[in-house]
Amino acid sequence: MDIKDKVVIVTGASSGIGEATAREFGRGGAKLVLAARRVDRLETLAQEIAMMNSGASTLVVQADLSKLEDIQSLIQQTTERFSRIDVLVNNAGFGRLDWLENLDPVKDIQAQFDVNVMGVIQTTRQALPVMMKQRSGHVINMCSMAGLVATPTYTIYAACKHAVHGFSEALRREVKPWGIEVSMIYPGGVKTEFQAHAGIKRKTGATTPNALLLSAEDVGRAVLQLARRPRPMWIIPWAWTVSVWMNRAFNRLVDWTTINRFTIPEREDDLKAN
Ligand SMILES: NC(=O)c1ccc[n+]([C@@H]2O[C@H](COP(=O)([O-])OP(=O)(O)OC[C@H]3O[C@@H](n4cnc5c(N)ncnc54)[C@H](OP(=O)(O)O)[C@@H]3O)[C@@H](O)[C@H]2O)c1
Repeated sequence: MDIKDKVVIVTGASSGIGEATAREFGRGGAKLVLAARRVDRLETLAQEIAMMNSGASTLVVQADLSKLEDIQSLIQQTTERFSRIDVLVNNAGFGRLDWLENLDPVKDIQAQFDVNVMGVIQTTRQALPVMMKQRSGHVINMCSMAGLVATPTYTIYAACKHAVHGFSEALRREVKPWGIEVSMIYPGGVKTEFQAHAGIKRKTGATTPNALLLSAEDVGRAVLQLARRPRPMWIIPWAWTVSVWMNRAFNRLVDWTTINRFTIPEREDDLKAN
């Protein structure tokens, strides 16, 4: 698909992967809808895209994706301005990565589901009638390696991304007869503001090896590629495919290694206290 003049909604365009993705579509001359809560950042990005002289146009929409009325308004403003929706990139999301008992029931647990799961489902639900009427469209969902392999401290985040995986797979099989594609992308670790918001505390210093760490731009380019050529699932970088396969084939071995190499050393003090 040629991106020029296509109507593309990018949620979570105010930073990280969403911002980088919007730049890629901007360079391609798309009609872009930039959505997030931090509208000042969206305005700055819109100005930057206008300076690209690529023929791109932008609509900035302040939206809290945990609120249905904001989602409805996002879709309404998009269709009022551009009359159609060609690509919906459901990217907005965040993680709170800690032991389950430390997570606040509302601010950490409920809030993650509200944005990472309900935000994706409701935005898609609102955009779908427009795409069905067009008999075309493409929903691209920002999943994560955590949507395929769940690790300690990622309980809620992994549950959210597994939910997005299941939602997307079922939807893909529902809407294809209307000419609508559903693609999912599964990045490993990406250098963005995500880590700062996640509240990660690691005694062992365990983290994604540098060789596997992606930039937001790497993922932005991959999303653009997906928009041009839909794929049901895309794991980036490819090397993580091995861990998905290991987790399926040798689940108990992965349990043992994770518990002994990560959980026990990280939780030594908790174990002594309780
Ligand atoms: N970084 C990683 O390692 C990694 C790996 C795999 C997948 N992902 C996924 O990639 C996506 C983007 O994350 P990122 O790494 O780019 O992190 P980021 O830089 O923190 O960006 C998160 C984006 O989501 C938006 N957002 C959060 N809550 C929102 C809400 N209630 N309403 C509207 N927008 C909201 C933020 O905008 P406002 O705060 O302005 O609203 C921001 O634009 C997420 O879905 C994340 O799960 C990240």
